[in-house]
Amino acid sequence: MIMKIWQIDAAIKHSVDEAIAEAAQCIRAGELVAFPTETVYGLGADARNSAAVKRIFEAKGRPSDNPLIVHIADVAQLDGIVDASASWVQQLIAHFWPGPLTLVLPLLSADISSKVTAGLNTLAVRMPDHPLALQLIEASGCLIAAPSANRSGRPSPTKAAHVIEDLQHASIAGVIDGGATGYGLESTVVEVGTNQLRILRHGAITAAALADHLPEHISIIQNTAHKAHTHHDHIPPSPGLKYVHYAPQGQMTLVKGDSLECRQAWIQQQLQAAQERGERTGVLTYEEHAHHYEADVVLVCGSWHRPSDTAKLLYDTLRQFDREGVTYIIAEACDEAGVGFVVNSRLEQAAGFNVVTV
Ligand code: TXA
Ligand code: MG
Repeated sequence: MIMKIWQIDAAIKHSVDEAIAEAAQCIRAGELVAFPTETVYGLGADARNSAAVKRIFEAKGRPSDNPLIVHIADVAQLDGIVDASASWVQQLIAHFWPGPLTLVLPLLSADISSKVTAGLNTLAVRMPDHPLALQLIEASGCLIAAPSANRSGRPSPTKAAHVIEDLQHASIAGVIDGGATGYGLESTVVEVGTNQLRILRHGAITAAALADHLPEHISIIQNTAHKAHTHHDHIPPSPGLKYVHYAPQGQMTLVKGDSLECRQAWIQQQLQAAQERGERTGVLTYEEHAHHYEADVVLVCGSWHRPSDTAKLLYDTLRQFDREGVTYIIAEACDEAGVGFVVNSRLEQAAGFNVVTV
């Protein structure tokens, strides 16, 4: 059961401090606390406490071979824990932290529970850019291991209500409700190698933004072949890549293609056929296109021209199809510009790689 919801009203400072102190005490006691970050809500526990970390995996139904990100509030917390000594890594940290960049670094310490790393010799770390997350980490005095606070396989939570929707029956001390998160997409996960950076998961920070802050001799390797990793003969570079993600309950198809007219005609035809089969139909589309579709549930996910708005709304929209009992979903891909590329990659995963180009 979720024992407590801490409603945060930033205007009343002493009540915020009180809530954070209580939540921090829970973390220190080896319990779980869900908290907002600038990307999505996380489900946190003391990274040094194996029994506590084990509870995270149980609460989420997460496979134990999928490692967790450790959250810090101060770079000094990394001393003796990971090797972040390369000057270009220091530059990335100085520029992107606090912020949605997760660095996978060589692990130096035996103090971190091996459940956090799933036994790997690397550790994923980031400093979230959210006042409540930072305050919680600081007040707890812990390194906080936290995956996204959804049930495994479901869209990540961008509101406290999503955490409650997914985890109400799990054993959790409480949820800090700090309202909707900012980016709506998870952090970008990169593995630091010798003179190279490998993108393991695209996220809120684009590859182009990373490239702008790397010296010339450091190369970026993009790992976009998510689909290949769903096959068992392949060892994925990041364990998380082999599992189903972000999926709503209905069957979902993602539609791409350059011609708007072709796309819309094809989608409307599929929706109609599905309706005739007795499906409850849904379409994920954009302000500019919504009037083209007749479905049981038409959900507008921002403007086609502003992928960052779509990112913010994406997971709530995917969850909305479930709330509305939709069994057949068609999603229109968004503009690939900037973070639009990442939104489309999440849509591909949500659709189980059921992608049609028309
Ligand atoms: O924005 C975020 O990153 C959110 C917030 C809560 O910080 N967290 C999040 O965590 O999305 P999670 O557990 O849902 O995703 C972490 C990803 C997984 O794909 C996992 O496999 C990968 O990071 N990962 C963690 N540690 C790793 C490691 N040592 N090596 C490779 N991949 C790792
Ligand atoms: Mg996750």
